[in-house]
Amino acid sequence: MKPPRKLHIKSYGCQMNVYDAQRMVDTMADEGFVETTRAEDADLVILNTCHIREKASEKVYSELGRLRVAKDEAAREGRSMSIAVAGCVAQAEGEEIVRRAPVVDVVVGPQSYHHLPQLLQRAAREGRAIETEFPAEDKFGFLPAPKPDAIRARGISAFVTVQEGCDKFCTFCVVPYTRGAEVSRAVGRIVDDATRLADSGVREITLIGQNVNAYHGAGPDGRSWPLGKLLERLAAIPGIARLRYSTSHPRDVEDSLIEAHRDVPALMPFVHLPVQSGSDRILAAMNRKHTCDDYRKIVDRFRAARQDIAFSSDFIVGFPGETEEDFAATLALIRQIGYAAAYSFKYSARPGTPAADLQETASAAEMDERLERLQELIDSQQAAFNEAAIGETIDVLFEREARNPGQIVGRTAYLQPAHVMAPADIIGRVLPVRIESLERYSLLGRLAAPGQARGIEPASSQTATGA
Ligand code: 5AD
Ligand code: SF4
Repeated sequence: MKPPRKLHIKSYGCQMNVYDAQRMVDTMADEGFVETTRAEDADLVILNTCHIREKASEKVYSELGRLRVAKDEAAREGRSMSIAVAGCVAQAEGEEIVRRAPVVDVVVGPQSYHHLPQLLQRAAREGRAIETEFPAEDKFGFLPAPKPDAIRARGISAFVTVQEGCDKFCTFCVVPYTRGAEVSRAVGRIVDDATRLADSGVREITLIGQNVNAYHGAGPDGRSWPLGKLLERLAAIPGIARLRYSTSHPRDVEDSLIEAHRDVPALMPFVHLPVQSGSDRILAAMNRKHTCDDYRKIVDRFRAARQDIAFSSDFIVGFPGETEEDFAATLALIRQIGYAAAYSFKYSARPGTPAADLQETASAAEMDERLERLQELIDSQQAAFNEAAIGETIDVLFEREARNPGQIVGRTAYLQPAHVMAPADIIGRVLPVRIESLERYSLLGRLAAPGQARGIEPASSQTATGA
C-alpha cells in the first residue's frame, strides 16, 4: 500500500478560516492525505491567508519565500511538494500571486475549496491552477452543500458556517470585496450538519459568518428565517448543549435574536458585538450606519432579555481623522458598557477600500499609545470579570484532558477556560464547578454537586471574523 501523502496547512485570521482549514483537510483526506505539523515534510502545503489587517499579502510573500527553499530541498530529495494559497489574499490577488511567486501551484478562493483535488490535478498538468470565482447560483441562498462526510466530529465544540460575505461596506474593510455579497445557507442544511455533529459527540456549536446576524436562510416553511429562529431550532437537536454565534453587526440585531437570548437556555449569554469606535463622527466615517447611542440601546435590549449577558467587541484606533477627543469617546463607551473581552487593532489602510483614500492623521506613535491605553482599560475590565467568578459555582462544558495529569479543562459560558481535577469521563458533560482561584486567564476549581450552578459566570477569548 502506498504511504499516505502529507498535508500541511497554515491558517491565519478569523474563525471562518479555522473552519475552512478543516474543510480543506477533510476534502484532501478523501484523496489520501493526512495532516502534518511540519511544512518541510509535506507533499502539499496550503497557506490559508487573511487579508483583513496589516501587510497581510507581504507576510504571505515572505512565507512563500521560505516555502520555495523547502520545495527546492524536497526536489533535491526526489520528492515533489505542491504549494497552494487559499483564503482572502488568494481571493484578492488571484493571478498576481503566481506572477510574484512562481513557486505557487494553486490559488484558490474561499468559495472553491471543494475543488482543491481537481485544481491540484490541473496544476500537475498545466503547471498552475487559479480559481477565485464567486459561484453565481449561490447568490440567493445556497452555498455548495458540504459532502455528507465533509463534517466530522472534532472534539466537543464545532463551527458551522451559516452565512458568508457581507453587504455592509464599512469603509476600512476588505470583506465585502474578498468574500463577496452576503449569502445564507438554507435552514435544513444547517440542521443536518448540526445533527450529524451532535450524533458524533459534539455538544457545542458556534454558528459563524462574517455578518452572522444578517442570516436570512430559506426555512422549511418556504420563508426566510432570521438567526434567532435558527438558533431556537438548533437548540432542539438532542445532544446540543450550547450554541454560540459570531460575528454580529449592531445594525442587524433584530427581535428574534433578543428573544432567543431570553428563551433558549442553550444559547450562551456571551455576544461578540463589534462597535469599532465610540465617536459618532468616526462611526459615520466608517460607514457603520449607527451612532454610539444606538449601540448602547442595543446592548440594553440584550441585557433586558438576559441579565447575565456579557459582551466582547472589536476596536480600531487611529482611523483617518480620529482626534484625541474621538478616542476619549471610545474609552468612555468602553467604561459605560463594561466588556468581558475585546480585540483591538491599529488602523491599517486596505487597498481598494474607501478609507484607503483618506488622509491618515494619527502618527504611528499616537496609534501605539492609543492602542496601549485602550488595551489597558479592556484588560482591567477582563480581569475584574474573571475575578468575579471566584467563589461562584458555574457551569462548565468539559472539552479535553489538560496538560497537567489528572486535570480536565472546559469552558464557561463566557469561554473562560476552567480546570478541575476529575476523571476523563466528564468530557462532553456540562457540570457545575466551584471556582476557587484564577491563574492568568484560567479559572481553577472543583466539581460541585449537581444543581448548584448559579449561571452567573464571567470571560475571555473569542476570535473575530468580521462585522
Ligand atoms: N484596519 C484595522 N482593523 C481592521 N479590521 C478590519 N479591517 C481593518 C483595518 N483596515 C478589524 C475590525 C474588524 C476585525 C475583524 O478586524 O475591528 O471587526
Ligand atoms: Fe462587513 Fe464587518 Fe467588514 Fe463591516 S467590518 S464590512 S460589517 S465584515
